[in-house]
Amino acid sequence: MRLGILTGGGDCPGLNAVIRAVVLHGARRWGDEVLGFRDGWRGVVEDEAVPVTPERAARILARGGTILGTSRIQPYRTADGPARVVDVLAGRGVAALIVVGGEGTLSVAHRLHRDLGVALVGVPKTIDNDVGGTQLTFGFETAVQTATDAIDRLHTTAESHHRVMVVEVMGRHAGHVALWAGIAGGAAAILVPERPFDIAAIAAELRGLHDDGAQSSVVVVAEGARPVPGTLEVPEPGVDEYGHVRLGGIGAIVASEIEQRTGLETRITVLGHTQRGGTPTAFDRVLCSSFGVAAVDAAHAGAFGRMVAVEAGRIALVPLEEATAAIKPIPDGLWEVAEACRS
Ligand code: F6P
Repeated sequence: MRLGILTGGGDCPGLNAVIRAVVLHGARRWGDEVLGFRDGWRGVVEDEAVPVTPERAARILARGGTILGTSRIQPYRTADGPARVVDVLAGRGVAALIVVGGEGTLSVAHRLHRDLGVALVGVPKTIDNDVGGTQLTFGFETAVQTATDAIDRLHTTAESHHRVMVVEVMGRHAGHVALWAGIAGGAAAILVPERPFDIAAIAAELRGLHDDGAQSSVVVVAEGARPVPGTLEVPEPGVDEYGHVRLGGIGAIVASEIEQRTGLETRITVLGHTQRGGTPTAFDRVLCSSFGVAAVDAAHAGAFGRMVAVEAGRIALVPLEEATAAIKPIPDGLWEVAEACRS
């Protein structure tokens, strides 16, 4: 079989590990050849692809980014885009397309399968871990580790100076990275998009901790966190050329408010794209390898319109319709753990 593969949306650690697993497993188990489309959906619409051989894929397991490139361009931006996808895949003899992406890329995949019958299988990628239908997306664990390492470092300098450190992490619609890194890093407060924050309560809490002897504290803020309406002025975020809200900056607002309200010296660190770069953790490499193998087997089973997923700790297949229906919020139980372990 000739398989196509694309990586779309924001990159994340582990994309190359998925490509490698697809190429190696496809070739060994099924005699497949793999065609890699450049820059996500752009490569399909513009018919730009390269063969990815087992020799090419063999040594990319630990490499961050994606050898295929990525973009947020998608076929529904132009009237003839979806039909182009069908024509290009047919012209290239691609029997099944493996679509590696987050919510945006997978939603496009779902529409193409549902409306035009495109034979495809999804693989859930994003450091944000907000794709529905799966307990985990790959790249998340690596991002959490990167953020936790940074928080550990911030604790020691904060302690020397008796400061509050505010750390802004990624998390556009959901606060999974903030929540996990906040718990792992021993944060005093965690601010996430799912639960609007009350800056007065946070400031009072921090003042209390320091009055009781704390020498430092860390506050983790997801970039999509917002205050309880009417409690704090924050500027409306702008949008990028693809209509995505351009976030970032909430951490600086929170830091300045904390300093003013508590009198504690406060600094802000924005981790930004450091969370998306670099080599995947061992866990993510194993998850990516498992996802890649399962996606190839799903293609051979004709399980199109599905996404590989983690369900109850095992690799499963779920309908793309279910996976793209809604963003997956942080779990209540873990939020309670964070509340219980603030320090
Ligand atoms: O999609 C994941 C994500 O990392 C978001 O958390 C973040 O808002 C966004 O990508 C930033 O993407 P970029 O700056 O690459 O457009």
